[in-house]
Amino acid sequence: MIELKQLTKEYGKGNRVTTALTGLDLSVAKGDIFGVIGHSGAGKSTLIRCINLLERPTSGEVWVNGVNLTSLRTKQLQAERRKIGMIYQHFNLLSSATVYDNIAFPLRLVHTSNSDIETKVNDLLTLVGLEDHRDKYPAQLSGGQKQRVGIARALASDPEVLLCDEATSALDPQTTNSILKLLLDINKRFNLTIVLITHEMHVIQSICDRVAVIHQGGIVEQGTVSDVFLKPQHPITRDFTRGDLDHSELLKQAVNMSSIHPLTSQVVKITFLGGKTYESILSRTVRDTGVDFAILQGTISTLKDTPYGQLIVRFEGESDDISRTIDKLVSQGLDVEVIG
Ligand SMILES: Nc1ncnc2c1ncn2[C@@H]1O[C@H](COP(=O)(O)OP(=O)(O)OP(=O)(O)O)[C@@H](O)[C@H]1O
Ligand SMILES: [Mg+2]
Repeated sequence: MIELKQLTKEYGKGNRVTTALTGLDLSVAKGDIFGVIGHSGAGKSTLIRCINLLERPTSGEVWVNGVNLTSLRTKQLQAERRKIGMIYQHFNLLSSATVYDNIAFPLRLVHTSNSDIETKVNDLLTLVGLEDHRDKYPAQLSGGQKQRVGIARALASDPEVLLCDEATSALDPQTTNSILKLLLDINKRFNLTIVLITHEMHVIQSICDRVAVIHQGGIVEQGTVSDVFLKPQHPITRDFTRGDLDHSELLKQAVNMSSIHPLTSQVVKITFLGGKTYESILSRTVRDTGVDFAILQGTISTLKDTPYGQLIVRFEGESDDISRTIDKLVSQGLDVEVIG
């Protein structure tokens, strides 16, 4: 659906050049919710603005739905752009226009008839839950309501792609969740491809199918959210996922404890995914192998709709029995990483 090929973006000239994107490749499948996460200055906004050519890449190609946008003339580009909606961190609404007129704006631009506009805007107001606010001005709305107007406006031209530039970063956690739910809902309903950028892992974890991690203008890691989230490889990715489980302190404690323990001990991280999260695999296995365990840290949560669990445990017992325990857990489909 979206292919970015060797995208480079430089700002400025001569010896004051900032390279924001460095030959970046990315591909997003139709119907996916694709998240791009990165720290401040990593190039996220530049990347998303290059997808609809709000920002012209210095070199490289942008393909959306089989069309090379970078090769188009202004008029053709405008037509293709209408198939790409965008929402913004600070909503970018027209402050002097009502909710209704904000949503109608893109339709008026292409001379849609008033009766068609009326039908379309009313449908969109219902979709985003703002039927009772159609005649209000943006200043009379909460942040969450403003973003709902932004979403309705973006959907008015029936886009195939929705770009979200930090769309929930100005909202409180509860409002963030309601907006994320709405994005998930429209993704399912219209099979709309969504690209969102964020610096919050929580956003990725809640609604994305795939994720790419951007750092210094390049993608350092990408994959399904469960792969990237549960087994981060790159240090930057680890930074984002560390909130969940931080080993370093635990390891120190574990090592201290093991020195006073008479038997061998080993610290491992066990990852459960999907239905296995709720099975009694661990207790059945240790009953069989005669190994004891202490839970050092654990979390159970969901990635989009998929439950997962991660436990850091210290196994205590004969070292052969511990090895057997690990083998048995792996053979039952759990991921076990020995961390000390
Ligand atoms: N219009 C511009 N002119 C010059 N440099 C720019 C411009 N826009 C961005 N940059 C630079 O390009 C780099 C990437 O910026 P970008 O805004 O894409 O990062 P970001 O990941 O969106 O950051 P943030 O999370 O703070 O929004 C930064 O070094 C930034 O200073
Ligand atoms: Mg930005």
